[in-house]
Amino acid sequence: MSAQTTPRLIRGRILTFLENPSQESAASAYHFYEDGALLIANGKIADVGDFSDVQARASVNLGAEVAVVDHRPHLIMPGFIDTHLHFPQTQAIASYGAQLLEWLNTYVFVEEQKFESAAHADFIAGRFLDELIRNGTTTAVAYCSVHKQSAQSMFAAARQRNMLMVGGKVMMDRNAPEALRDTPQSGYDDSKALIEAWHKPDQRNYYAISPRFAITSTPEQLEMSKALVQEFPDCYVQTHLSENRDEIAFATSLYPAAKYYIDIYAHYELLTPKTILGHCIHMCDREVSLMAERGAVAAFCPTSNLFLGSGLFDHDRFAKLGARISVATDVGGGSSFSMLETMSEAYKIMALQGQKLSPLQSYYMLTLGNARALGLQDKIGSLHVGADADIVVLDARAKPAMDLRMDVAATLEDELFILQTMGDDRCVSEVYIAGKAMKSAL
Ligand code: GUN
Ligand code: FE
Repeated sequence: MSAQTTPRLIRGRILTFLENPSQESAASAYHFYEDGALLIANGKIADVGDFSDVQARASVNLGAEVAVVDHRPHLIMPGFIDTHLHFPQTQAIASYGAQLLEWLNTYVFVEEQKFESAAHADFIAGRFLDELIRNGTTTAVAYCSVHKQSAQSMFAAARQRNMLMVGGKVMMDRNAPEALRDTPQSGYDDSKALIEAWHKPDQRNYYAISPRFAITSTPEQLEMSKALVQEFPDCYVQTHLSENRDEIAFATSLYPAAKYYIDIYAHYELLTPKTILGHCIHMCDREVSLMAERGAVAAFCPTSNLFLGSGLFDHDRFAKLGARISVATDVGGGSSFSMLETMSEAYKIMALQGQKLSPLQSYYMLTLGNARALGLQDKIGSLHVGADADIVVLDARAKPAMDLRMDVAATLEDELFILQTMGDDRCVSEVYIAGKAMKSAL
């Protein structure tokens, strides 16, 4: 990975997780350095700890004063990770008045047709990634449109920014406008060509095989998806599951052999530890247990689930049954690019079901939790020596009302909760990607 070579110290109040604070005793689940520093060299974290220790070690090891970027009193955390969103829906966000299937037909399938134009795809890809950065998101798992070009645009834009991105062109061969349909063969061929060209973990690009959902794929296309998964087991798989009751009824009517929606994906062997299933709202215990057994991940998309009136994701039931969970925006069904706003809505969805989401657990989910969901915890999601230097710097006093509230905040947990409940992109004071300051350069 190309990167900044001059070592630098990034100073501030550092928070990084070692474990899920809901499982460990919270105090041993994270490191917090009130006056901390990260030594950044060659795009990676070379040291982390108390500022005075890291500075002393740096001057001994490097034999010279190392430049310091001082972010105090702001919080420094691993860059946020968004595990499910749609890059061609960047201009479909905030489309009024419909639930899932009507919303797809009325807005999304109209918008996605514009990505037949390479110029449009290139333009939106750049704006999309810049918006992620503006919100402190340094890695995302993105659906592209059906057009092969759209994935090329997304990966090229990611490579320009040196951003670790996962994505793939959607495969959809029915129940969509003609202009958005591929065929089982062309979907396979285009996906395979994209994997060969762009699935380059050493360059921070990862491919996700992306049958959109059972409604828009024929059995022949899901068969081809299965072939791709078997041929390219290193790639991710992404699709949607049990978001909306009409969707479930339609999907299961198209696959009459399936008793439950998830049986469709199980039949085509699409449930793997590299599979991310968007939404997973209306599911019985047997389905959740099957996910746990296969190691597939449920992407909890709070703003989308509220915005589209889809329902309430049952976080604690998934946790109890041992299923893996990530969090995501699902833009443009999701109504914000901000992972802070996303966790604010996650908290409320859980509150509606009598569940609690602690502030520490929220930030674990945004960082190490989502990195683990992707199996990328060695590279991203925590600030450990050898990790990629993807970092977000947060200012909990960025808005006047937050400033006032912060005046009476007593603890780190208070500050985190204020950031999540009142914050947005204005609170993201800087973002580093592979050691390079990106937000201030936008
Ligand atoms: N299900 C199938 N496609 C989509 C999509 O684009 N957004 C959401 N929220 N759900 C879907
Ligand atoms: Fe989605």
